[in-house]
Amino acid sequence: MRKTLVWLLVLALGAALAQAPKVDGRVASGEYAKSLKHEKSGITLHWSIVGDTLYLALEGKSKGWIGIGFLPEKTDKKKGADLYLFYMEGGKLVALDTYQVKRTGAPVADEKEGGKNSILAAAATYESDTWVVEFSRKLKTGEATDVEITPGKKLIVLLAHASKMDPKEEHKKTERWYLEDFVF
Ligand code: HEM
Repeated sequence: MRKTLVWLLVLALGAALAQAPKVDGRVASGEYAKSLKHEKSGITLHWSIVGDTLYLALEGKSKGWIGIGFLPEKTDKKKGADLYLFYMEGGKLVALDTYQVKRTGAPVADEKEGGKNSILAAAATYESDTWVVEFSRKLKTGEATDVEITPGKKLIVLLAHASKMDPKEEHKKTERWYLEDFVF
């Protein structure tokens, strides 16, 4: 009886560990639990929740930075959004955790608003104007500059990309999107 229990535990632990995607900038088939292609942006999202951590990947075309964000609900445009912005600098990925203080315009680094960069791991490949970016963060970071993600609870996902690898470069009005009623 005890042996069986030990084996079950080992198997369960193995399954839990096996679920965690490898944050290496490549998305293998079956690596993530769920995927969704957002037709309007052409961006495909992949995600897995392992324990208290969210693993998220974005695949899409962009001549410049690419970003994703979360809002618990819409109150005043994108005010309050928890935005993650990715760009390449000298062949290396820069992964920013930012917060949207104003209703439009550029977000600011979490650090400037009393938070911190909550990205646990990030990696990307960028070839032929095509991004594959993977990152992870805790579902609940406890920071005011991060949106808490509750599996099964609706939130708004924001997507955007810009034409330059510069976070000061605005996305076009036609290159930012809301995905309402998104559920992780
Ligand atoms: C993860 C990165 C970002 C995402 C997901 C994002 C998303 C969005 C969304 C959804 C809106 C529409 C707001 C509304 O009218 O309801 C918006 C507006 C705006 N954003 Fe961003 N944004 C990002 C980063 C930036 C950055 C870096 C800049 C500037 C450097 C910027 C500048 C603006 C401006 C000027 C507007 C108002 C014009 C418009 O509606 O397009 N955004 N953004």
